[in-house]
Amino acid sequence: MRVWTVLSQKGGSGKTTLVLHLAMAAIDRGKAVSIIDLDTQRSAEKWGALRRLKVKKAAPAIVPALLHDIDRMIEAARSADNDLVLIDTPPATNNTTLRAGGVADMIIVPTRTSTLDVDALRDTLQALMDADKLDRTILVLNAPNGDKAMLTGIERLARDYGTPLLSPGLADSAALASSLGKGKGIVEQSRNSKAAENVITLLDDLVRHSRRIERTRKRENA
Ligand SMILES: Nc1ncnc2c1ncn2[C@@H]1O[C@H](COP(=O)(O)OP(=O)(O)OP(=O)(O)O)[C@@H](O)[C@H]1O
Ligand SMILES: [Mg+2]
Repeated sequence: MRVWTVLSQKGGSGKTTLVLHLAMAAIDRGKAVSIIDLDTQRSAEKWGALRRLKVKKAAPAIVPALLHDIDRMIEAARSADNDLVLIDTPPATNNTTLRAGGVADMIIVPTRTSTLDVDALRDTLQALMDADKLDRTILVLNAPNGDKAMLTGIERLARDYGTPLLSPGLADSAALASSLGKGKGIVEQSRNSKAAENVITLLDDLVRHSRRIERTRKRENA
């Protein structure tokens, strides 16, 4: 079972969007997926309630949790034969989010491309470096707005902190939000759309990167 934590100091960077669409893309692949919602906004959990109401489907399981529950929740997901656990976190780099990163095999940091996002990204990367978690971190560009200078700034940060950057990551697409509004993910809503293809490619890239992290860890522990 893999555990991925989606984390960023910046609010609105796309954490919950990524968690929900990646979860639905993995389910489409036949994987058993659970989401642990550590954000007190409970956005992921609310989407789950909407999904049960509108689509009448229980998967993915979405568990609202507090930090002290996290190990127990992960073990429960493991016992229930899940393939993937996605942890959604509040917009912060604090004890909660860094611990949620600490229990993960991979930390996914989404970033948009405005000045404020790039500033916050630097802080997020610095906090992950201080917590010694950069080796399991990957950056995902979200909804890039074509601003070349900002993209260059993000690329430079990725280089400086030695973090891989998935670029283009997730394109700006209104279809992502509208499918969530129906209690679905984009892959379930319109499988052949560009946005769905984008999410599927992103999932594949992230699985590949997660495997790379696992191989490196095995080598280091050998
Ligand atoms: N790739 C995208 N294309 C279009 N809209 C997007 C994209 N990613 C996120 N959004 C929109 O941006 C807003 C914020 O996204 P989301 O809630 O996923 O961010 P978040 O990081 O989870 O926020 P918070 O920090 O408050 O938890 C939402 O309205 C969402 O629909
Ligand atoms: Mg969120």
